[in-house]
Amino acid sequence: MVRRVILDTDTGVDDALAILLAMRSPELHVEAITAVSGNIHVDHCVRNILMTLDVLDLDTMPDVARGESQPLVNPLTFADDIHGGDGLGNISDLLDADGVRLYPDPANRVSPKHAVDLILERIHTYPDELSLIAVGPLTNVARAIIKNPVRMRRLSEIIIMGGAFETYGNMTPTSEFNLYADPHAAQVVCDAGIPLVFVPLDVTMKSILTTDMITRYADLGTPAAVFVRDCTEQYVEFHRQHRDVDGCFLHDPLAVAVAFQENLVTMAPARVDVETAGDLTSGMTVSDLRPSATLPPNARVCMRLDADAFVTLFSERVLS
Ligand code: RIB
Ligand code: CA
Repeated sequence: MVRRVILDTDTGVDDALAILLAMRSPELHVEAITAVSGNIHVDHCVRNILMTLDVLDLDTMPDVARGESQPLVNPLTFADDIHGGDGLGNISDLLDADGVRLYPDPANRVSPKHAVDLILERIHTYPDELSLIAVGPLTNVARAIIKNPVRMRRLSEIIIMGGAFETYGNMTPTSEFNLYADPHAAQVVCDAGIPLVFVPLDVTMKSILTTDMITRYADLGTPAAVFVRDCTEQYVEFHRQHRDVDGCFLHDPLAVAVAFQENLVTMAPARVDVETAGDLTSGMTVSDLRPSATLPPNARVCMRLDADAFVTLFSERVLS
């Protein structure tokens, strides 16, 4: 049974890798890819989604729609120090021997619809059959819930790359970037009564694409493998310098993989909330994972990962 999904992204580097995996996975039908400000401004995200799709020789393209440029309450927080000034490792600067850009600007194939309206429209078309994979700040998702909460509850599930439950955050000691960037949106999602799956740093930081794998597959010369090498160079350098990793974390691709291969992870039911007012803890996932927990769960949280199986899946689907 093919799973119908919408991918909501703040396309940055690992979002681009997630798009490649989603488009190369026959278990998924990608209805649309929507953009939200996060790693970089939403206008760059739209462009990066289109540039990533151009790498694949697709017969049909998913709709691409621009979403929210600002968080619900907090000021914008970018991660261009990690993902590059353009959000995609500055691949627009790369030239061939003749001085021609290796990655030209994409054709303008953006939907005239706002991402929030496109999400709500697709749920109306496919009630109880559509899932959302959210790998950026949850601003678009929260705006859709605020606009039509009843319609949003006809989503099958929302799979969220976000949070840190039994590990440190990556933006602050307590908070992961997507939830830190828009904690108010994340709490709206936690309260919406929609089945949620969290794919947090607890598992995504165990999924590492090594420089050796990046190089080995790029040398084989497939366009996607060469693109992954080209767009991850700065992302990998950040990981070397600040995460002591000779490669990069596959945060967003793991959220995509969980959508069609749940047996890669071990999940625990839990009530999850997100701190919105803490001076030191804003964006922190707050959850009682003790066996004695009494609050009714609103989510399943991925706590363990078969990392080798996932990285093999990613490499075979995207890089080969
Ligand atoms: O914390 C990692 C997450 O924040 C990933 O989705 C990355 O792309 C950024 O959005
Ligand atoms: Ca992301």
